[in-house]
Amino acid sequence: MNRVEAVDKVTGRAMYAYEQRADQAAAYAYPVQSATASGHVRTVNFAAAWHMPGMLAALSCTDPPELGSAEDPELALFTTREISYRGQLVAAVVADTLENARAAAAAVLVTIDRHQHDVRLRADHPGLYTPDQVNPGLPAATSYGDVAAGLAAAAARVDVTYTTPVQHNNPMEPHAALASWDAGGNLTVYDSTQGPSFDRDTIARVLGLPPGRVRVISPHVGGGFGSKGTTRPHAILAALAARAAGRPVKVALTRQQMFELTGYRTPTIQRVTLGADTSGRLTAVAHDVVEQTAIRTEFAEQTAACTRVMYASPAMRTTHRLARLNMPAPSWMRAPGETPGMYALESAMDELACAAGLDPVELRIRNEPVTEPDSGLPFSSRNLVACLREGARRFGWDGRDPCPGLRRDGRWLTGTGVAASTYPARRQPSRATALVLDGGFVVRIAAADVGTGARTALTQIAAETLGTSPDRVQVELGDSDLPRAWLAGGSMGTASWGSAVVKACEDLLKNEGALGSADTAEDVAADSSFARHAFGAQFAEVHVDTGTGEVRVPRLLGVFAAGRIIDATLARSQFIGGMTMGLGMALMEGTFVDEAQGGFVRKDLAQYHIATCADVQDVDAVWLEETDSHLNPMGSKGIGEIGITGTAAAIGNAVYHATGRRIRDLPITPAKLLA
Ligand code: MOS
Repeated sequence: MNRVEAVDKVTGRAMYAYEQRADQAAAYAYPVQSATASGHVRTVNFAAAWHMPGMLAALSCTDPPELGSAEDPELALFTTREISYRGQLVAAVVADTLENARAAAAAVLVTIDRHQHDVRLRADHPGLYTPDQVNPGLPAATSYGDVAAGLAAAAARVDVTYTTPVQHNNPMEPHAALASWDAGGNLTVYDSTQGPSFDRDTIARVLGLPPGRVRVISPHVGGGFGSKGTTRPHAILAALAARAAGRPVKVALTRQQMFELTGYRTPTIQRVTLGADTSGRLTAVAHDVVEQTAIRTEFAEQTAACTRVMYASPAMRTTHRLARLNMPAPSWMRAPGETPGMYALESAMDELACAAGLDPVELRIRNEPVTEPDSGLPFSSRNLVACLREGARRFGWDGRDPCPGLRRDGRWLTGTGVAASTYPARRQPSRATALVLDGGFVVRIAAADVGTGARTALTQIAAETLGTSPDRVQVELGDSDLPRAWLAGGSMGTASWGSAVVKACEDLLKNEGALGSADTAEDVAADSSFARHAFGAQFAEVHVDTGTGEVRVPRLLGVFAAGRIIDATLARSQFIGGMTMGLGMALMEGTFVDEAQGGFVRKDLAQYHIATCADVQDVDAVWLEETDSHLNPMGSKGIGEIGITGTAAAIGNAVYHATGRRIRDLPITPAKLLA
């Protein structure tokens, strides 16, 4: 099915946050950021700014606004003079045009007493600590069996450390908001968000308003990859600035500002220790992670959680430790946890296959668990082995030469690699209504379509339930005044919203034409205990230029088992989109941290390289027919994030196969390969 909003998008009728209009002409706020990573703000001087044209209002940490909640320090704007990361908002100006606001912001003089900063993550950081839990509420450390004994008894062992850099989400649409207050003190925010209900709640909490006084509208969103999953400072800034200026205010972050104000993926240092017996069966697994968080905010990525799901082993340990650094808080980025974690685990499995003299597909099949290793729960469905076999068949894996660095074609070395993918398949409570209108049906739910095609998928789900054609169904979403819903996050959008939409449509059919409504809170609470995950297998072919160290990826194939696929076109797009992002992670993505200045370097798309058309050659995704009755009424698993998991490992493993060089520090750049 074509996207229902396709014509609106290609004709420019689809309105994104920054393009929205309020009743009155909007003014523009522009942030003033700290150029220091640690310190105390002594003065903020707006004298020169007030002489600039169009200046309307000023906000500053030297004149703190009254806020409701400071639970997220990055959202409690201008409430402290203490600087804990470079880029922290210390002030803002409001002016009649974006250009005037930007110029006035540049004229603001900030003096900061500078303190020593600490921005370098290292495995021996003296402040490393174990958090109470890691996202999303998982234990920070788990262990069963005797890892030391398992390693001692092993015939083949791997003990290696992988590092991954800071990565930035870089959605196509920069973060933006338009905020306006009415005479009664009600706030409307057009925000670029992955979840209007939660965004509304957070904005209300931060501003100290009842949720009923805030409305978030977000009909179209140009991607987020997690960076719009939770409220970001620009939305709060727009609201405060609109209050200060007494008129609607727009905030549009520049690409460079996004690097400091919209989150990023934590860098990781991951030690993976594996032991296997003579037949390749694991005797011990340990995955010990070091990652970072901010001085005043704890964000604990669940990097080793994937290891608890993957392979059978009589002994297993997973740990996470954090260092608090003078950096912005890390946040959600596509498959947080699974993405860096599966890079390390699946690279180490490849190293173990080499050490054990086994084919890496076969090694994984031999370690297929009967139940989820860490929890002992049965899987609702698990078809990893089928994905590996189907992928091997389609890719032409049989007969692969196990020895690395042997296949040369002129100046190019070639190699192939494999890795597994996984991502949880969960759902969360949502509400929806369905009604008959003008001879068709209208379905309402505060879902978000962040470019994934959620509106289209929900249209199909509703039409199927109602026994009608999709063109008679209109789905309204992207507005917090609609029935409360989960966000486009955790690959749970379609599962959560679809459950509510099916139920609301069934309710409508039962009531024969009145209003159908649904709340899935009780259904979700009653979900039986199964280990619910999607799985996949990824195969990569690489060519490595022996002269320049350049890596090309002529072929990338993903085979996924992700429950019932609602729409083939949308699903393929999600899978290959994730795989493409994984290719970027493997070969180019990474944000440098400048230790002297204490901040990010490379804050634009000219320097932070993401995979583009020329980098992506033959990338294909297919899926197995998978029936799983334990998930939700559609039988679907999430598909937005699994595609990025495992990809970087498959490419890294192929680079090793091509060159005999194991680069354990992402991204695999020409310089590292030539060294
Ligand atoms: Mo996604 S990182 O769960 O928004």
